[in-house]
Amino acid sequence: MARSGKVAVIGAGFYGSTTAMRLAEYDIFDTVVLTDVLEGKAEGLALDMNQSRPIQNFETKIVGQTTGLDGSGYEAIKGCSIVVITAGLPRKPGMSRMDLIETNAKIVRQVSENIAKHAPDSVVIVVSNPLDEMTALAQLATGFPKNRVMGQAGMLDTARFTNFVAEKTGSNVSDVKTLTLGSHGETMVPVPSQSSVKGKALSEVLSKEDIDALVDRTRNGGAEVVALLKTGSAYYAPSAAAAQMAKAVATNSGQVMPVCAWVDGEYGISGVYLGVEAEIGSKGINKVVETKLTPEETTALKTAAEAVRAKQADVKDL
Ligand code: APR
Repeated sequence: MARSGKVAVIGAGFYGSTTAMRLAEYDIFDTVVLTDVLEGKAEGLALDMNQSRPIQNFETKIVGQTTGLDGSGYEAIKGCSIVVITAGLPRKPGMSRMDLIETNAKIVRQVSENIAKHAPDSVVIVVSNPLDEMTALAQLATGFPKNRVMGQAGMLDTARFTNFVAEKTGSNVSDVKTLTLGSHGETMVPVPSQSSVKGKALSEVLSKEDIDALVDRTRNGGAEVVALLKTGSAYYAPSAAAAQMAKAVATNSGQVMPVCAWVDGEYGISGVYLGVEAEIGSKGINKVVETKLTPEETTALKTAAEAVRAKQADVKDL
């Protein structure tokens, strides 16, 4: 099988290391580069991952690299066509994602400046929280065209919604279709009108009370995991989503996925990074794809846009 290209994952914590592992196991890249500021962490994990190759049957090589806050070590990402930013603190129980904004803004800015320097033609996928704001900041700090910077959240939130609906209805996840738009936070917009089980509208399969409860659980999906883990946040489903986005870019797949993308007129919303469906290709976002929403869902999406717009305006000073 033909392998090509180089992808980097910045931050070798739980999210970053699981993303790197998934990308390597796809066996479509020559090299996956994993970096971290903690001396030896990325190298150690890379060594361990490489040793799984004969067992899991893949040839992609994982390269670990310690990076300094002065930018040392970033030569390792030279030639990467995709960079996934996972560096940053996760929340603790009781914290909102927004509580991380000041700490993670400093990290994401530093990382982004080094990406611009060493992988100037890359597509950047941001996963650090608060997601919508960190995506906007990564675009500002790299200076990349807006289509080349996107965030991962919608695929994860949609997967959570799908999983909850499948469990509630006793269905296979493959028979369930859901959609979640808006912010990766309090103004998340799960979209029941675009959701179905075996092609039947969700409203025909579940009561309004049940749908409302699942929508609520989806909005709090991350916090539910954080509360159980007590240290750190989710990473299996998040890394699955980030890795699929990177694969869509690498293969120029043209898949339509819910992602955090720059919105410029769609749904009557402009000038903000927001969770929407978009077509993904080798240049990043090919185009935002509008879907049919109820008037209530459209209003909720506009409310989400205004909420994140205000916060995104602040990040330039952080
Ligand atoms: N450059 C590179 N790596 C960094 C930097 C930096 N400037 N600052 C911190 N890191 C690394 C840490 O050393 C750590 O290994 O980022 C990693 C974060 O890992 P975890 O604490 O395990 O957090 P994780 O669960 O991976 O979440 C990362 O994703 O979902 C979001 O909210 C979550 O913002 C968080 C991010």
